[in-house]
Amino acid sequence: MPVVILRLVEYYPSETELVRILRTTGPQALVLSSEDTRAAAGVARQAEAHAPGIQLLGIGWSNSPEVLLELMRAGVREFLQAPFDLQAVEAAVHRLLNAAPRAPAGAELSEEIYSFLPCKAGVGATTIAVNLSVILSELCKQKGKVLLADFDLNSGLCGFLLKLQSPHSVVDAANHAFSLDESLWRQLSSPAGELDVLPSGKLAPGWRIDPAQIRSMLDFWRRYYSVICLDHSGNLEKYSIELLHESRYILLVCTAELPALHLARERLALLRTLELESKVRIVLNRATRKDVIRPEEVEKLLGLPVYAILPNDYKGVHRAIALGKTVEVGSELGKRLRQLAESLLNGGENQAPERRRFVEYFTLAPARYTFMPGKEGPAS
Ligand SMILES: Nc1ncnc2c1ncn2[C@@H]1O[C@H](COP(=O)(O)OP(=O)(O)O)[C@@H](O)[C@H]1O
Ligand SMILES: [Mg+2]
Repeated sequence: MPVVILRLVEYYPSETELVRILRTTGPQALVLSSEDTRAAAGVARQAEAHAPGIQLLGIGWSNSPEVLLELMRAGVREFLQAPFDLQAVEAAVHRLLNAAPRAPAGAELSEEIYSFLPCKAGVGATTIAVNLSVILSELCKQKGKVLLADFDLNSGLCGFLLKLQSPHSVVDAANHAFSLDESLWRQLSSPAGELDVLPSGKLAPGWRIDPAQIRSMLDFWRRYYSVICLDHSGNLEKYSIELLHESRYILLVCTAELPALHLARERLALLRTLELESKVRIVLNRATRKDVIRPEEVEKLLGLPVYAILPNDYKGVHRAIALGKTVEVGSELGKRLRQLAESLLNGGENQAPERRRFVEYFTLAPARYTFMPGKEGPAS
């Protein structure tokens, strides 16, 4: 039975620290040294109180009745005496893990992972990821925190767009993927207002992230954040595909231009073969009233509804970059981004969207023609 050691603590932690460890690692079992039996029993009681159902295993040199009784009273059901006998260890671990709940009780894992995937470099995926993450972090303030992680390892811009000076990056986080805890994470991530950001770091040619590292980082983030936004390069690297599999929504960003739409179709075909198509939401960016290709035609070309239309706002985006801020909330683009954030959080449209609801949310209603006058909206 494979066992993963989530955290090694070489002392008896305080209750506060224990709670933090339990929350950020979400273990199924806790192994306690009986060297200081009273301290071990204290930790066992606290662990059971904060993570009901957690399995407790005592280990130590002495199996005197006093030690065993004190541990038993604290809820420790298994004890292994050193020096260890491999078979006895295996049997004890087997019993423990069979008794342990699959997911540790009390560990709430966020499902809200949003991937931003440009169909072609330059269509605006990063701009949308940054702006949307900031809006989400404000909308979710009561519920929990939001993370923006930049997985465009060669041309990452999230840190720059938010004027962050972080020395740490996705590369550092991946290097520590199996030992992430709250205090290390606080050093690695950078705050930008309510939002936490993990920039992509300096160019690291040829550097790769292992799928196991990705899963481990995501497991940690899921416990820590209520929403996780992931910016992708669009090249669909192996780690990028791993992230897409873990995502709830893949926001495929394109513009109403033929080359972009051609590549969007290719990306979609690949996502279909990976059985990821149902997660895809098409975001049509930089839309203007002069666009030759209308949103209806984009839908026909891609075979999917357009989920959101964001207007072209060169000045607004430029001003935001110069200030290291988001686009103005009152601008047309700011309002559309907020609608997009609200709809993602609302999540209901995931189940077989009705045309009507879709229309209400987004810009396929006549409202969208506020920036596309002279056309009738489609019947809803
Ligand atoms: N809605 C928009 N209106 C005007 N310019 C935009 C808009 N969205 C993005 N841009 C601009 O497009 C360029 C590419 O954006 P970026 O977010 O880096 O694209 P990607 O991540 O898809 O490669 C940037 O100069 C950005 O300022
Ligand atoms: Mg980008």
